[in-house]
Amino acid sequence: MCSIVGYVGDRDVAQILLDGLERMEYRGYDSAGIAGIQGDDFTIVKRLGRVKNLSDAIDPSIHFEGIGIGHTRWSTHGKVSVKNAHPHVSFGGLFTIVHNGVIENYESIKNFLSDSGYKFYSETDTEVLVNLIEYHFNKEKDSGNKFLRSVQKALLHVRGTYGIAVLCKRNPKEMVVARKSSPLLLGIGDNEMFVASDACAIVAYTKNVVYLNDGELAHIAHSDFSIITMRNEKIDAVKCQLDWEIEDVSRGAYEHFMLKEICEQPMALQNAMRGRFSDDLSTAKFGGLRLSPMELRQVDRILFCACGTAWHACLVAEYLMKKYARIPTEVEYASEFRYGNIPLEKNTLVFVISQSGETLDSFAAMQEAKRKGYRTLAITNAVGSTIARESDGGIYQHSGPEIGVASTKAFTAQVCVAAMLALLFGRLRDMGFDEGFAFVQALHELPAKVAQIVESREEIRLIAEKYAHCEDMLFLGRQSMFPVALEGALKLKEISYIHAEGYPAAEMKHGPIALVSEKCPCVFLATQNDILQKTMSNIQEVKARNARVVAVVSEGSDLSSGFVDDLIQIPRTHDALKPILATVPLQLFAYYIARARGCDIDKPRNLAKSVTVE
Ligand code: AGP
Repeated sequence: MCSIVGYVGDRDVAQILLDGLERMEYRGYDSAGIAGIQGDDFTIVKRLGRVKNLSDAIDPSIHFEGIGIGHTRWSTHGKVSVKNAHPHVSFGGLFTIVHNGVIENYESIKNFLSDSGYKFYSETDTEVLVNLIEYHFNKEKDSGNKFLRSVQKALLHVRGTYGIAVLCKRNPKEMVVARKSSPLLLGIGDNEMFVASDACAIVAYTKNVVYLNDGELAHIAHSDFSIITMRNEKIDAVKCQLDWEIEDVSRGAYEHFMLKEICEQPMALQNAMRGRFSDDLSTAKFGGLRLSPMELRQVDRILFCACGTAWHACLVAEYLMKKYARIPTEVEYASEFRYGNIPLEKNTLVFVISQSGETLDSFAAMQEAKRKGYRTLAITNAVGSTIARESDGGIYQHSGPEIGVASTKAFTAQVCVAAMLALLFGRLRDMGFDEGFAFVQALHELPAKVAQIVESREEIRLIAEKYAHCEDMLFLGRQSMFPVALEGALKLKEISYIHAEGYPAAEMKHGPIALVSEKCPCVFLATQNDILQKTMSNIQEVKARNARVVAVVSEGSDLSSGFVDDLIQIPRTHDALKPILATVPLQLFAYYIARARGCDIDKPRNLAKSVTVE
């Protein structure tokens, strides 16, 4: 996903921009660039690959005069090339722009501008936008804020999504930014202003931020700013305070962000639960749902939708809601839901789960559910994100920033929240006090049990490295362990590039067993004692075909180490919480295999942390 950074102030502009881009590298990109004003012209530097290549190319003679913008590009329109990298300059040289998003009607605008004499040097939709801004600027009379009005008028012709930052040579101390679907926030410093796609780019300098809403434009003039809408309404900025530190987005002593975030899970789970249990400790409570107990009782059906790892969290949530709340529940891929016209009962409650709160498919699914009149709630990790703000209410995970592209602490926190929701709905229906109290006790004990697994990660590393050379792997589990199998397979494939698939264990004999051989090991999630014999039968079927077997079991399981090639034990816990404990070894398993293969664990090829394109 592209990233934008901007700065107006008296510090070293290029360094602020480069630092900000580095902090957002985890979002995924393939080229980077910065622009500033030097003398009476723009100075622009762009490079392919990592931000470091850009830093290395910054000549010491470059000195941006108090203002600059930067960008990392995850290519959509036009191949990966310096020519297509941002920032882009308008044909007449008056403007430079960085853009996150997609201008859907760029071709018709490009044809119009070409007919008006504009020439284009890149294949991007962004260059079309900056020329449209210049076109309007040249038409505008010289009065009022011509710069802001030109951007506003250009955007009125645009269909699509954007987060943009624009500089104008005629207004060398000013910046105009605007957003529609692509997040953008302002950082308010001491006599300086920051702009970024993600707060982690600026939290080192200020915690005072303003999240722009869709359809808003901000005009920044040195240390002051104003916000208007596309309909020219003045907006009173809502200032927020970031509640985390720069250390939260620093790797610290860890080799990778992913390992740091795996190890942060005990704290992330504590944060997800903090202040969210009733005084009698027999149920959960969430103020953000904005639903009374009476309204919650009237819910006839629940739909969860999301993408990727968050979709796996939805599958666990479905299992928990059906088992503990006895509420009919279903799960849809967000990308399928938005076009599926899925029939739902009138008292259906829709949950959208999204770590970033910016996944376009998930946001579109939310909009579709709301268009159909369903109350739509968000479970998300990003405060002030689009999905959080556009929902009818919801629950923040409070996992802290998740930088590694492969989601870990966000997933287990989402499942923890889902378990608490199942408890809440269950206690509003048939679950008794004692059962609820035991559930809460198990939740309270959960972080320490996750810490136990994290502290034994060396054992998992030794097991994992034995499988680092594999090219195929199956993950198999039953009931609530099936989504865990899917998640384990996704972790492995996205960071080690090993082909991995998750299946219900019993389903293996209906096809996937054809893959099983000494070259295709199988990982079994065998944590449920009541169906252990069935899973052991599946393990024997696999072993009969000379495949190696790794099994994840609960402590005290009847499945002994002699029965499989490698055994990973997790602490005993409440059945509802086993998916969380069983996932942690699989995160570490994938991590250590990818590490042994020398993969780029925090920035896997082709992947972005948040997918804001369709
Ligand atoms: C998970 O490891 C992946 N990076 C990806 O599947 C991710 O879960 C998906 O893109 C959804 O992201 P979101 O939770 O921010 O909406």
